[in-house]
Amino acid sequence: MWVDLKAISVREASCLKGTVSIQGSKNTVLPIIAASLLADGVSVIYNCPHIDDVEAMCELLNCLNVETKLVNNVLTIDTSNARYACLPEKLTCKLRSSVLLLGAMLAKWGHAGLGMPGGCAIGMRPIDIHLDGLRLMNVNIDCEEGMLCCSSKGLKGCDYTLRFPSVGATENLLIAASGIGEITILRGAAKEPEVIELCKYLMSMGACIEGIGTEVLIIKGTANLKSVSYTNVYDRIVAGTYLLLATAVCSEVRLTGINDISYLKNIIGVCVKLGACIIKINDSIRIASDGLVKAGSFSTGIYPDFPTDLQPVLASVLMKAYGESVITETVFEKRFSIVNELLKLGAAICVDKNKIIINGKKEIHGHTVKATDLRQGAALVVAGVMAKGYTTITDISFIERGYEDIVRDIASLGADIAYA
Ligand code: UD1
Repeated sequence: MWVDLKAISVREASCLKGTVSIQGSKNTVLPIIAASLLADGVSVIYNCPHIDDVEAMCELLNCLNVETKLVNNVLTIDTSNARYACLPEKLTCKLRSSVLLLGAMLAKWGHAGLGMPGGCAIGMRPIDIHLDGLRLMNVNIDCEEGMLCCSSKGLKGCDYTLRFPSVGATENLLIAASGIGEITILRGAAKEPEVIELCKYLMSMGACIEGIGTEVLIIKGTANLKSVSYTNVYDRIVAGTYLLLATAVCSEVRLTGINDISYLKNIIGVCVKLGACIIKINDSIRIASDGLVKAGSFSTGIYPDFPTDLQPVLASVLMKAYGESVITETVFEKRFSIVNELLKLGAAICVDKNKIIINGKKEIHGHTVKATDLRQGAALVVAGVMAKGYTTITDISFIERGYEDIVRDIASLGADIAYA
């Protein structure tokens, strides 16, 4: 049996002070890597984070004889010798975004065989919205022994209404539609910044997309997409993690690399509601907090609402707020794994249907806790900075899927944190 022996040890910080440069976005770069398969030649992606999910995505491209190289946060993807192959489940199960290669492979080769996608265990995470859209684009889909076998006698444009604005399904269909010389209309599309950035990337490759940032996307694709260079945006979830952390303790923190603050609007709104003071200076954000967190009611939602990925981090922060707080989770039906771990720290927290109810306490105590998914793991690190004494977070490979180096970042703010 495989065991993750890596852990993080962290002690309560009385105050945090310093600057963190925010890494490039994971959820933006993964679909962009998938879309690069459609170009012939060398694509270059700047500000690409060094994280396990990027490595896993590159490994999948390597199976297709695509060369990838990630040096100093610059990723080059050379598709000159790309060759069709089935993508085995032992690789696709490493990340959810492996499913985005379906749209790219179908547009490029007219067929695609790949194992089922993996990703964080935060709910059922079906892919019916992806597959229904692809069927409308004239794709036949069979599922045999955990493998998706898809083929088409020629992808066609379609007019498809997504039953829910799934980020991944919007991205998959955008990629497929951009790589064919047809017109596709996606209604009820996701409006997340990651979708907007993917649209910009596909446009720079040669696709024509109208309605970017709205729920109706009209895509006129081409089979001759060209390879381009792209500078990845900052990771709004990583930035949000550190903004929430800084809100929870006495702090004066600066985050740099924030080139488009609008992507953080709702996260900043929540930090201000909790009691933090935030200002923007050029491409950085300054946050100051006295660490006295205010209780309240919060809800996750599709963009521009508060992101579900930060729900566990918010739950950690609310342990310190006097009075009762409630977080309503509206996106993933089983995203509550933070609760059992925070109980170990002495939090008064429970789940009721799709709500997390937290009764803030003055003191929570360090303990050994277990990361079970990426964002819950990061939330436990935040909780560790808040809890009296030492906290050890085990199974941190989950965190390494999306955070370049959470220990480096939080240590640079003066916290006593290290790999154990
Ligand atoms: C992406 C993000 C993830 C984020 C989520 C919501 C990546 C790699 N991951 O995940 O961090 O939490 O968006 O912002 O970008 N659903 C279906 N059928 C489908 C697809 C989705 O029922 O075919 C449901 C899901 O189970 C979930 C909801 O729709 O309840 C949202 O999922 P979706 O927006 O697709 O999230 P992901 O793209 O998987």
